[in-house]
Amino acid sequence: MSNIYVLMGPQGAGKGTQSQLLADRFGLPIVATGDILREMSRKDTPFAHHVKEVLASGELVSDDILAKVIRDRLCLNDCVGGCILDGFPRTLPQALLLEKIAQEDGNRIVVIKIDVPRELLLRRLSGRRICKKCNSIYHVEFKPPKVDEVCDLDGEPLFTRPDDSIEVIQQRLQLYQEKTKPLLDYYGESNRLYRVDGTGTPENVFSRIAEIVAKETNTERGNAAQ
Ligand code: AP5
Repeated sequence: MSNIYVLMGPQGAGKGTQSQLLADRFGLPIVATGDILREMSRKDTPFAHHVKEVLASGELVSDDILAKVIRDRLCLNDCVGGCILDGFPRTLPQALLLEKIAQEDGNRIVVIKIDVPRELLLRRLSGRRICKKCNSIYHVEFKPPKVDEVCDLDGEPLFTRPDDSIEVIQQRLQLYQEKTKPLLDYYGESNRLYRVDGTGTPENVFSRIAEIVAKETNTERGNAAQ
C-alpha cells in the first residue's frame, strides 16, 4: 500500500512549488495535471488546439479528458510507490475516479489543503514565471531567478502563463470556489484532510507539509509491516 498525496488549494496557493520540494525530499513523482495539459497543448493537432483554448480561458478541461490523462499517468511504473498529485482532483467526478483507481491499486489518499488569503494569491500569480522545459516555478519578487527571466536549471527563457492575466485569474478562482472547494468537505468527512497555513516563505510552508508527509509515510510503512 502506498500513499497518494493530493495537494489542494486555490490558484497561487503554492501547490506546484510545494510539489517540487516534496519530490526532492521524499523521492516521489509529481503528477501535475496542469503541466501535463500544457505539454499536450503544444502539439499541432485539433485536440491540442482545443486544450490550449480551454487553458487560456481559465475554464476546466473536461472530466472525460482528465480521466484518460490521470489513468495513463498513474499506471506508469514510477507511481507504484505513491505520488504527489498537483491539480487533481478538482471536481467530484474526478475525486470519485481517483477513489476507484486508489482502491484498485490498494493505495491510500492523503489530502493536504494549503490555506492562503486571496490578496496574497493575486500577488503570487501576477508575478509568477515558469520554465516550459523543466516546469520550474519562479516569482519576480519572491523567488527571482539568478539571471533575469532565465531558468537557473537549464538556461531556458522564462514565461508568464497565459492564464495568469488578472481576468483569467478571477475566473479560475471563481471555478475553484464552485467546483473544487466542495471536495474539502468530501475528504474532511472521511478524515483524510490536513490543512496547513500557506503563508510565509516556501521553506516555512514546506516544513509544515513535510511533517505531515513524514508522519503519513510512517503510517504507510507500519501498515505494510502488518
Ligand atoms: P494548474 O497548472 O494546476 O494551475 P492551478 O491549479 O490554477 O494552480 P497554479 O499553478 O496557478 O497555482 P499553484 O498553487 O501551483 O501555485 P505555484 O506553486 O505556482 O492548472 C492550469 C489549468 O489546467 C486549469 O485552469 C485547468 O484549465 C487545467 N486543469 C488542470 N488540472 C485540471 C483538472 N484536474 N481538471 C480540469 N482542468 C484541469 O505558486 C504561485 C506563485 O507564487 C509562484 O510564482 C511561486 O514562486 C510563488 N510562491 C509559491 N509559494 C510561495 C510562498 N510561500 N511565498 C512566496 N511566493 C510563493
